[in-house]
Amino acid sequence: MEERLPQHIAVIMDGNGRWAKERGLPRSEGHLAGVEAVRTLVRECRVRGIGHVTVYAFSKENWQRPEKEVRFLFDLFLRFIRQELPELMRQDIRLAFIGDRSDLPFAVRQALEYAMRKTAGNASMVFTLAISYSGREEILHAARRALTAGLAPERLNEDTFRSFLYAPDMPDPDLVIRTSGEERLSNFLLFQSAYAELYFSSVLWPDFDAKELQKALDSYAGRTRRFGRTDEQLRTTSEGMRYE
Ligand code: IPE
Ligand code: IPE
Ligand code: MG
Repeated sequence: MEERLPQHIAVIMDGNGRWAKERGLPRSEGHLAGVEAVRTLVRECRVRGIGHVTVYAFSKENWQRPEKEVRFLFDLFLRFIRQELPELMRQDIRLAFIGDRSDLPFAVRQALEYAMRKTAGNASMVFTLAISYSGREEILHAARRALTAGLAPERLNEDTFRSFLYAPDMPDPDLVIRTSGEERLSNFLLFQSAYAELYFSSVLWPDFDAKELQKALDSYAGRTRRFGRTDEQLRTTSEGMRYE
């Protein structure tokens, strides 16, 4: 069977807190364990030739969590970005960011911008971190930027609008994965996920390993993406085919 690989996988990493609770540990231990699952995801996707991986690490809504947890998470992001840099270079992976940069603590922003600069020439995969991200905010931000740029209303279309998104060159996700049994988007990539395939796993994020990823990829490979067309059209035209 021909291999039907998503070009872009976006992941809503959920269940760190429950993973820790099940073990009688503090939530922070769940987040630490979650980092290992991110490493595995990135490595496995790159090996398989998936060009883009985006992970939802912190939503705008997550600012409402207890201050201690928020502080822990941003310390973790800082350490992660610094520690991963050599590995990203070794694996030829470019780091990217979507979200509200102005919300980030200075040190995180600095580490992120440094790592993005250093990895800018890497070409094997793009790994995008969504931090302080909100899909609705991104859409509003793009609309605001389009207005500020003086874009004429008749020139506003999907393509021009996209150019104002956080990552204009990022292809739409083909597959959105959410772990922990929750089945919602929680404000993730609302514009870009319009035609994404959704995959919900009951596994808690820290337990999402290469085997679980393979299950998601197998599920994706078995789907028919019609983009509004009929099965008959898909058989007779190549245009409607997403898989080549
Ligand atoms: C996902 O795990 C990580 C973040 C949202 C930062 P949670 O922290 O949401 O874990 P649960 O949902 O409480 O189990
Ligand atoms: C969604 O997880 C955000 C991230 C994975 C970063 P949450 O656990 O915060 O989502 P809700 O609040 O349960 O929808
Ligand atoms: Mg959660």
